[in-house]
Amino acid sequence: MNRIYVYSSTGNSLALAEGMARRLGDCELVNMARCLERDEEASGETVGLVFPVHAFGLPAVVRRFFDRLSVDGGSWVYLLLDSAGMPLGAPALAAKILAGRSVAVRAGFHVAMAGNYPPLYNPPSGEKRQALAERGEGALDAIAESVIGRRGVAVPGRHLRFLSEFLNAKAFEKTAEGDRRFFVDDGCDGCGLCAELCPAGDIVIEAGRPRWRHRCTGCFTCFHWCPHEAIQYNRSSSAGRNRYRHPSISPERYRRWCRS
Ligand SMILES: Cc1cc2nc3c(=O)[nH]c(=O)nc-3n(C[C@H](O)[C@H](O)[C@H](O)COP(=O)(O)O)c2cc1C
Repeated sequence: MNRIYVYSSTGNSLALAEGMARRLGDCELVNMARCLERDEEASGETVGLVFPVHAFGLPAVVRRFFDRLSVDGGSWVYLLLDSAGMPLGAPALAAKILAGRSVAVRAGFHVAMAGNYPPLYNPPSGEKRQALAERGEGALDAIAESVIGRRGVAVPGRHLRFLSEFLNAKAFEKTAEGDRRFFVDDGCDGCGLCAELCPAGDIVIEAGRPRWRHRCTGCFTCFHWCPHEAIQYNRSSSAGRNRYRHPSISPERYRRWCRS
């Protein structure tokens, strides 16, 4: 049996993990965000760790998951990171953190996908979104071949690892409080989906509106999946920007995934 642990805010990493599972066969997908309250002892012929780059390094949820992860020595471990194209040394940083937990990474891969960070740019929509998703899927054949053949691949980003370590730590100093910038407009009907999907349990619904409790990991899951596009961020920088979801991950699929 193969196992893939996944963290995904808007479906890119989930779609890549599903693509890997189809290619590897006999594969279980596990949601990292659902494993944070326990020690996780991973095993499997291959163990994949699939997640996006956040702030040139690891998402806060992935760091927390790694803190309690151990992997059976017989498993062949690989990393698959995706980003908007600027990972810097994130894969190498992940491998270093895992080495500190006695987990040896045999291969590391990076795939460029659509960007989902609206404060900096408008996430793609329409044909561009579709083309980027297809390009990501296309990258998986070679990656799966390496994993199936247990072919070691040097983890990318070794020379930029220190930079990633510094920038990632800096970025997360104030992330928890960064949720003060989220607010809802009149489209909010208090449905509570944002609270259900938030991987950090940061959101509660009070008086029919979400309230952010300053435990934010800055992932923008609430912003992107709000069915009414009623969640806004920072009156100027994200106004009018697209909500992004990977085209093959439906809202129903993502919701089931968050519960799994
Ligand atoms: C908080 C945050 C920070 C990000 N930082 C980076 C980054 O440093 N470099 C980059 O290339 N992409 C960055 N991205 C873009 C994501 O890595 C990219 O869109 C990824 O494919 C999203 O995967 P997901 O849908 O599985 O969450 C960031 C996205 C978010 C939400």
